[in-house]
Amino acid sequence: ASQPKFVHPLPIPAVLDVSEGPTTLSVDITQVEQDLGLRHPQTGAVMKTTVWGYNGQYPGPTIFARKGVPLQVYWHNRLTEDGSDTGAPLPHLLPVDPSLHWALGHLENWQTAGVPIVTHLHGGHTESASDGLPEAWYTPNFAQKGHHYVKGHPGAPYYYHNTQEAATIWYHDHALGITRLNVYAGLAGFYLLTDEREDALKSQHKLPAAPYDLGLAIQDRMFTADGQLYYPSMPEENGASEPSHMPEFFGNFILVNGKIWPVLDVEPRQYRLRLLNGSDSRFYNLFFSDAKNISLQFWQIGSDLGFLPSPVAHDQLLISPGERMDVMVDFSDPALWGQTIILRNNARAPYPFGETINPRHEGQIMAIRVSKPLDAAYPLTPIPASLRPALPQPPAADKVRELILFEGLDEQGRLMAQLGTLKEGAMTWDDPITENPALNATEIWEIYNLTPDAHPIHLHLVSFRVLNTQKFKAEFDAETGVVSKARLLGQPKHPGRGQDGLKDTYPIMPGEMARFIATFDRPGRYVWHCHILSHEDHEMMRPYHVGEMPHH
Ligand code: C2O
Ligand code: CU
Repeated sequence: ASQPKFVHPLPIPAVLDVSEGPTTLSVDITQVEQDLGLRHPQTGAVMKTTVWGYNGQYPGPTIFARKGVPLQVYWHNRLTEDGSDTGAPLPHLLPVDPSLHWALGHLENWQTAGVPIVTHLHGGHTESASDGLPEAWYTPNFAQKGHHYVKGHPGAPYYYHNTQEAATIWYHDHALGITRLNVYAGLAGFYLLTDEREDALKSQHKLPAAPYDLGLAIQDRMFTADGQLYYPSMPEENGASEPSHMPEFFGNFILVNGKIWPVLDVEPRQYRLRLLNGSDSRFYNLFFSDAKNISLQFWQIGSDLGFLPSPVAHDQLLISPGERMDVMVDFSDPALWGQTIILRNNARAPYPFGETINPRHEGQIMAIRVSKPLDAAYPLTPIPASLRPALPQPPAADKVRELILFEGLDEQGRLMAQLGTLKEGAMTWDDPITENPALNATEIWEIYNLTPDAHPIHLHLVSFRVLNTQKFKAEFDAETGVVSKARLLGQPKHPGRGQDGLKDTYPIMPGEMARFIATFDRPGRYVWHCHILSHEDHEMMRPYHVGEMPHH
């Protein structure tokens, strides 16, 4: 692991600007070789890595869309030898664990049947048929399809309404039981939605615009000696099948926008950084350090799904898998000129009670050098006092559900995190649907974390608010998760500064219950799950259904 740090410029993914049309995009998912920044330790030669990309790029192109301008996307699975629809299907890049409940689990010849993919727009207020549900997957040329496959090329493109407000959302693969592997191979990208409020903020010089507005997708990886993606397996002596799913994945290389420990050269001015944690299991507790000990702050201007009423200053910023933090950082202090600032991380893995991390590896994210002259053609954008009026109070709830996060064991004795209800206990993906909100109902979900780790819980479709969190004591059956007694302790707590905005993913801490409130305003099948991808792939995901359930 003797790779140079802070030498490769931060990649800026290509932009597909569809904010004024065209209203249809075609995106090819293919296997490509890409320079992730790895160099041969002796010769210094570039070691290219085989990855999967949207339009041949990892991360995928940034889709720049606009509220009020709907978009259709054909997501073509071209994971074939020649990159065509009809070529010979490629095998998976990474070891698939067939003992998990997964897309091709029913097939004898799954090794040669092609790779199932399905694209989910995370944070999208999307119709069920275009949501990219885990069982709406398809292999190249639609040779095999999941049983919730509804559309996709050549049937019909996915439809994105773009009726929600400006936000930093993202797209990534979601195929059942192999989401962690498909995302690890490279299938993730930004989808930035803009609107009139954002236009106004930009024209009043309250927000930096391009090129001072950048997405940073933070991901951890491991590599083989020859620079290929390495995905670990449980040691065989544990009696697990081979290759075996791991309870979590933590890589020792940190990539931002697909480059190991990159460097960004900036002007002495304010930047907007849209932080995305696109990692499998790793939480990041981010902070800046520099030789002059100037305490640079993150001015958080937005949470997952929109702007906060006013910026919130953080010295440290916790971001869990799946979350986005929209921040401004002010590099204009003359003391910073010519300085190199390191964006660092000190979150334990697993969070919050796991191991401390290596400050020289996972403890470093990227460098920022204040080295460019100020371009006077672009006005400065001091941190604004306010961004929007106060967020509206959520409507009164029609229903309260009591739900659990639970950690049990699977048939092989491996740790298996699950979701369930307080009364009925832990459930699996295939158990009958228990969360069935009426169309347009507002519900409070009280989610009790019975496990020793934090889990970032994500709901598809909705923008939720976290009303509060509260400590509790519970008596529950260690095998079934059925809770016989739960007692709330102390007072409800605020969800955290900046976490009281519009959310789609929120980390629930061990021993705490979090109260989410949301209005379920599109009908049909959706899912909720832990965004630790290794948990999601191993049963910590449940379908939910809005409105009347179909009768089969
Ligand atoms: Cu970002 Cu269901 O996922
Ligand atoms: Cu989890």
